[in-house]
Amino acid sequence: MRNAFPAWVAIAILAATPATWAAQSSSARHKIPRQALDATAAPTTMAALAKAMPVTAKHAMVVSAQHLASQVGVDILKQGGNAVDAAVAVGYALAVVHPCCGNIGGGGFMVVHLANGRNLFLDFREKAPLKATPTMYQDASGNVIPGKSTGSYLGVGVPGTVMGMDAALKKYGSMPLQQVIAPAIKLARDGFVLQQGDINILNERVKDFAKYPNVAATFLNHGKPYVVGDRLRQPQLAHTLELIEKGGARAFYRGSIARKVVAASQAQGGILSMKDFADYSVTWDKPVSCDYHGYTIVSDPPPSSGGTTICQILQILKPYPLAQWGYGSVNSVHTMIEAERRAFADRNTYLGDPAFVKNPIDKLLSPQHVAAMRATIKPDKATPSSEIKGSLGPVEGTNTTDYSVVDQHGNAVAVTYTINYLFGVGQIAGDTGFFLNNEMDDFTSKPGVPNSFGLVQGRINQIEPGKRPLSSMSPTIVLRDGKLFMVTGSPGGSTIISTTLESFLNVAEFGMNMQQAVDAPRLHEQWLPDQVFVEPGLLTAAAQRKLEGMGHHFKAVKSWGADEAILVNPETGLLEGANDRRRPAGLAAGY
Ligand code: DON
Repeated sequence: MRNAFPAWVAIAILAATPATWAAQSSSARHKIPRQALDATAAPTTMAALAKAMPVTAKHAMVVSAQHLASQVGVDILKQGGNAVDAAVAVGYALAVVHPCCGNIGGGGFMVVHLANGRNLFLDFREKAPLKATPTMYQDASGNVIPGKSTGSYLGVGVPGTVMGMDAALKKYGSMPLQQVIAPAIKLARDGFVLQQGDINILNERVKDFAKYPNVAATFLNHGKPYVVGDRLRQPQLAHTLELIEKGGARAFYRGSIARKVVAASQAQGGILSMKDFADYSVTWDKPVSCDYHGYTIVSDPPPSSGGTTICQILQILKPYPLAQWGYGSVNSVHTMIEAERRAFADRNTYLGDPAFVKNPIDKLLSPQHVAAMRATIKPDKATPSSEIKGSLGPVEGTNTTDYSVVDQHGNAVAVTYTINYLFGVGQIAGDTGFFLNNEMDDFTSKPGVPNSFGLVQGRINQIEPGKRPLSSMSPTIVLRDGKLFMVTGSPGGSTIISTTLESFLNVAEFGMNMQQAVDAPRLHEQWLPDQVFVEPGLLTAAAQRKLEGMGHHFKAVKSWGADEAILVNPETGLLEGANDRRRPAGLAAGY
């Protein structure tokens, strides 16, 4: 489909968020983990929200979590690149200017909607190393060892981003890799001036940077934290990107880059091998899709849980008069919580890597089945999570930067990629210059024991060699009457699902514009723990009291996620871009 994307292109780059529920002890993990980017969140009030307006553009738009990466995308589009060209360019640029999350050391997903109606899904999620085992994070007594899946080389999955970018560009791009990777190389070599939004994110793990000399050499300024106005130069990353520029994905998976990662892993108790890199592959598949009152949701199938869970929640919600009830109303909030509680129980019980397990998606989304789930919701009473089990009975058999692209023909692309925690495992192999992921923590370390996002998952997502861990990433495209309507997605671990869902519902049901929909305070419920995470501003004191009286348990969390979205305004035809207020380093830029 070369040259299929003309200049009128909108790109929303939804940058991967940082992980983090930073809590490491297993008892702490049962609590609501602290979201790493709380510190960057700008407060909002209903008065501020009422005035929030998206950035509009006629031809093209890029929304990303880092302003320089947005600009890279716009420049590529102005040079005549298509949406995929720009998406790959932004993907590489974010790996430089948003090193917490943008990456070449992790993996992710891309959802593509072509104007001819075809929908595609590209899976470049990390895979477990071939030497991985189901109990690798447990001690001899079967207890999960805190930090083993997150803070050591044993937590590193085989990275997929470089092969994913390569596959997308080869199939749908119109520009050579050399052209789209060039801005990233320049930003790494020349450096860029850090602004407050960048500093806030670096400060989240500044203490960890001091632990490793090769990390400190780049991410500390002569041993001290960077401050606003400093220039961050990454010559080692520039060199690695140049190797990719010259040798493509092969340089990464079979050349010196893989060798350096494997050497560092072996030296520090990891299990990565050259065979892991040589065997790595990406997969094109069919997205999950579902209808909701004239909208079609096109989102991610396993190994993401995102699309299936968003669709299940929406199917449960379908008959309820959410618009009439209103945003933040007792009825809407109660019903959304109950739908999420049930869908997350299914997520955690029935979904895993399709290369290894059978995912009963058709059953989970069938109208009869969803109706049965809905029938268990009591209108005036919370259902304790302890009473909810996977809705299909026992499991059968064995078993975060996001970007989006749209053009005038209705082609659209959405991508989310991540290294899991902010700055991933916190380590860089030798002089490669890029952070490695700690994505292995997304697996079930032990059935029933929560992971870093508090997700209590089952055997279906157990670790196996070459398997991909179940994800919540949900780069999503929404069509309305078959035409492109919205591109949305977010980082935030398990909260990605509710953030992405709410960005859509806030527009479709609650009448918000795209900026309001992204900025509005959110709620999140994930079955276990039996607790509703809520951002300040969503509930009035009276609504909260009423809901507590119905049996809901709220936990106020300052903020989470960073939804970076684009809406195609059906009335004006204009593109409306919204950078999440929670990510002030980001920018919606268009022309
Ligand atoms: O794939 C997942 O679901 C997680 N590893 C995503 C991590 C993430 O969003 C980090 N942000 N808070």
